[in-house]
Amino acid sequence: MALSEKGQANMKSCLQPLPKVLVSCRGLNGEDNVLAVGYCGNCSYAPPMVMVGIVPTRYSYNMIKESGCFVVNLVDKSYCAKFDYLGSHSKRDGDKIAAAEILLGESKIVKAPILRECPVNIECTVVDSILTGSHEMFIGKVEYVHANSDILDKDGNIDYAKIDFL
Ligand SMILES: Cc1cc2nc3c(=O)[nH]c(=O)nc-3n(C[C@H](O)[C@H](O)[C@H](O)COP(=O)(O)O)c2cc1C
Repeated sequence: MALSEKGQANMKSCLQPLPKVLVSCRGLNGEDNVLAVGYCGNCSYAPPMVMVGIVPTRYSYNMIKESGCFVVNLVDKSYCAKFDYLGSHSKRDGDKIAAAEILLGESKIVKAPILRECPVNIECTVVDSILTGSHEMFIGKVEYVHANSDILDKDGNIDYAKIDFL
């Protein structure tokens, strides 16, 4: 393979990890919301923890800050249009869950909804947060993981290869 010349690239969002996710949350007043999140990842194996980065100006930010919980929903390609809608509209301007016809379900442990049409839903309790700059990274202890039965083996392992990620 021929070596390519290198140029200096922009530093902003220079890691592009996959998958992008939908984070669902519920305010203390009972209202539900969902936003698209690209700043996310695993951050502990034992105990299992994940993190999501939320910009403080997002409507969802105060909901997560006050409730202390959120759900990370993994998204497949069939949900692309809904993902784009939820990532480009704010609850501040109207009920985007109704507008995008998002089907919600109840969590087992935390006070936030799951997205029924997403193959995996990860319930999390916020155990810490760090304001890194543009984003606040919420560290979530994983409390319960829902997965569609057709991607689960008998031991509860998810076959991620069966998810056609965005
Ligand atoms: C691909 C994609 C990735 C995004 N990643 C993030 C993110 O990591 N953190 C964030 O706060 N907003 C992110 N956004 C923007 C929010 O999803 C968007 O501003 C949303 O409308 C916020 O909704 P809300 O104001 O109802 O909370 C992303 C949007 C897209 C399309």
